[in-house]
Amino acid sequence: MVLTRLFRLCGIHRYFKNVPQCHGRYFCTSPPSIAQLSQKIGFIGDGSMAKAICRSIKKKGLIQYSQVYVSSPYIENLDSWKELGANVSTDNSIVAKEADIVFLAVKPHILSGAIENIANSPNAAEIRNKLFISILAGVTIKDLEKLLSKFRGSRVVRAMPNTPMLIGEGCTVYCPGTTVTDSDLTIVKNILEVTGMCQLLPERMINAVGAVSASGPAFVYIFIEALSDGGVRMGLHRDMATKFAAQTVMGAAKMVLETNKHMGTLKDEVCSAGGQTIAGIHAMERCAVRGALMDAVEAAALKAAELGKQSTE
Ligand SMILES: NC(=O)c1ccc[n+]([C@@H]2O[C@H](COP(=O)([O-])OP(=O)(O)OC[C@H]3O[C@@H](n4cnc5c(N)ncnc54)[C@H](OP(=O)(O)O)[C@@H]3O)[C@@H](O)[C@H]2O)c1
Repeated sequence: MVLTRLFRLCGIHRYFKNVPQCHGRYFCTSPPSIAQLSQKIGFIGDGSMAKAICRSIKKKGLIQYSQVYVSSPYIENLDSWKELGANVSTDNSIVAKEADIVFLAVKPHILSGAIENIANSPNAAEIRNKLFISILAGVTIKDLEKLLSKFRGSRVVRAMPNTPMLIGEGCTVYCPGTTVTDSDLTIVKNILEVTGMCQLLPERMINAVGAVSASGPAFVYIFIEALSDGGVRMGLHRDMATKFAAQTVMGAAKMVLETNKHMGTLKDEVCSAGGQTIAGIHAMERCAVRGALMDAVEAAALKAAELGKQSTE
């Protein structure tokens, strides 16, 4: 009882509250209940991630494009959104005013200038009680809350999604700001879980997770391409080599997620004594593939922290 109260005071209950709904070990993969959102959804920035999030939640029936408000600097870049029925503008303050939930989807170094412009716009006084969801790499909740304190009643959630959400196979972590309510968190979870796996995590882990899951697809594309290159080198046609490489990566990933076996065990199960696979693994180990991947994750996490610092300088 005392412990529960203490957890509530520290906000720790939120991390535990999510776990029973999760399948597998930590991730929420249970089929989400789909109820259309009544809120208007805004995107400040209309790049790859804004498109991936919006298309993904539209595809799952959470929103209609008429509920969507998008802004970015060039109106011609917003034509495709307009054709779909979204409300578009080059003025970020219109999106912040009209939408109830606003995704911040610009590059980190753009953020403070963009917020400053909104705060100095004639719409500023009407921007109140908004729920902001920042997907910016590295930008901390402390800095986001400081920037957004210009708008009364604003709450912020920091999230780190990835592009496979476009096909419903995303992997997103998120973390609430200090003024976020439980009902805000339920809304954020409802939005994110239709895009794939999602997990509430302490903020200190977000840069590391982002390096694995947000940058990870790029690392894996290189791996698939290289596997395909190897097939071509050994005489396969490119289309066939790529199809087999991608399907193999997907199958191996599912083996890891669904069997709960350690990767080393799964690897051992494929390596027969003196066989072809251990010969291939020997070649990989000589090239230090593991070290290269670990270095890639480390470099991405450090870069996220650096970008976050630059965003407020
Ligand atoms: N890509 C990923 O896989 C990924 C994953 C997780 C998180 N993120 C984060 O998501 C954010 C967006 O990434 P992204 O890949 O979507 O980048 P992006 O494709 O470059 O999109 C950024 C968008 O912001 C627009 N923009 C530039 N200045 C603006 C301003 N002053 N006001 C409003 N919009 C402005 C850009 O428009 P113009 O093109 O016309 O300049 C562009 O549409 C980044 O902070 C990144 O850290 C990305």
